[in-house]
Amino acid sequence: MATLWSGRFDIAPDAEALEFGASFRFDRRLFEDDVTGSLAWARALAAAGVLSKEDAQPIDLALSAMLEEARSNPDFVDGPDEDVHSFVERVLVERLGDAGRRLHTGRSRNEQVSLDLRLYLRRRIPIVQHAIAVLVDVLANQAADAADAVMPSFTHFRPAQPVLVAHFFLSHATPLRRDYARFTAARDECDALPLGSGAIAGTAYRVDVTRLAQELGFSRVVDNSMDASSDRDFAAAFLYACTMTMVHLSRLAEDLIILSGDAYHFFELPDALSTGSSMMPQKKNPDPLELVRGKTGRALGHLVGLLTAIKGLPTGYNKDLQEDKEAVFDAEDTLNGSLAVVRSVVGGLTVDRQRAASAASGLLLATDVADYLVARGVPFRRAHEIVGALVRQLVAEGRDFASLSMGEWRAASELFDGDIVNRMTPGVSVTAKATPQSTAPAAVEARLTEVRQWLDSASKLC
Ligand code: ARG
Repeated sequence: MATLWSGRFDIAPDAEALEFGASFRFDRRLFEDDVTGSLAWARALAAAGVLSKEDAQPIDLALSAMLEEARSNPDFVDGPDEDVHSFVERVLVERLGDAGRRLHTGRSRNEQVSLDLRLYLRRRIPIVQHAIAVLVDVLANQAADAADAVMPSFTHFRPAQPVLVAHFFLSHATPLRRDYARFTAARDECDALPLGSGAIAGTAYRVDVTRLAQELGFSRVVDNSMDASSDRDFAAAFLYACTMTMVHLSRLAEDLIILSGDAYHFFELPDALSTGSSMMPQKKNPDPLELVRGKTGRALGHLVGLLTAIKGLPTGYNKDLQEDKEAVFDAEDTLNGSLAVVRSVVGGLTVDRQRAASAASGLLLATDVADYLVARGVPFRRAHEIVGALVRQLVAEGRDFASLSMGEWRAASELFDGDIVNRMTPGVSVTAKATPQSTAPAAVEARLTEVRQWLDSASKLC
């Protein structure tokens, strides 16, 4: 089969090298975008008087027919072609002859591939964003259901202070909202028309690129044809957004793996989303969450891979850029699969309120005891020392604050009164928090309301 560039050579290309350089295996995913771009290009050429009506009309009809054919028969997009652009052109020429041969006038695959990937990401990013919003919704529902349940929070993975279970769930919704915004930014980067850049220097035909941009739904045209032919910043921005989201899913997965395990058991995983062991009958394993954690490396690898591929490129298109697509597609698939499974796991979690509450008590209240003394005028550093000594004694004796007699409290400091006893609960501890980002029930309630408002506006966007 002839290549798009066979006129330049008098021997057939090396089959293995051709296969090595071919991208049709994966860039067939851009078929719809390639045809969309070609339809618009043909119309723009016709408007510029470069294509006659007699050529433009059959091109239009044939491209539209190809779109229909591919929709009803996915096997249609197949063949020995080098890439999706060659495929579309081959079929067009087979069907139309010379009219088909005129479509590529003033256009290069260098800008075409950039256009296709921009169009692809522009339509696919909202789908990812929708899946992120669905997970935020599931986390918000869990937060609402948790009501006043408490659990320990951790620093250095040592028990730190009591928090509302709702606060924990919302702590994982917050980074996902940042991810959503990162995808919006990545989509904005895609939002520039590269057509008119030609192979690198621009095109010699008076195509109205501003109008072409509007027709393809772009808000602007790229600034510089040389930059445009090797710019893949928009793909890197997408991979960065995927990677950050995977990092956040991985950390949520890690929390749930540990906190649903026997050692803590604040959460119970849904049976349908757990796996058993082929040998140990008692096991209930969190495989889906482990896979999400494991797959995070793929997304990160794709980001690093693309950045590495572009860092040393001389200006202008280089074939290295073909590496962008497998990275983008695999990161997208990995993220979509991970979002779906995490949504199911989180949606099916049950909270073991008893276990979580009892782990949130005891020595975790030490900061509250120090705050009690501060309220009675003791400088915080001094209060920390007094409570630290008390904790040392309690740890040595295997006890906690609840077991202290009034005499023992008084021995630690004269300033302790009878009310200290009622203050020693996780519920009082969380309610004592005073800032809007804290775990205070009123603050968490307000954040939850705000998350729901955000979800309303996000659902209108995608
Ligand atoms: N398959 C190529 C890619 O993905 C399309 C652009 C080819 N351009 C070229 N000058 N060889 O980057």
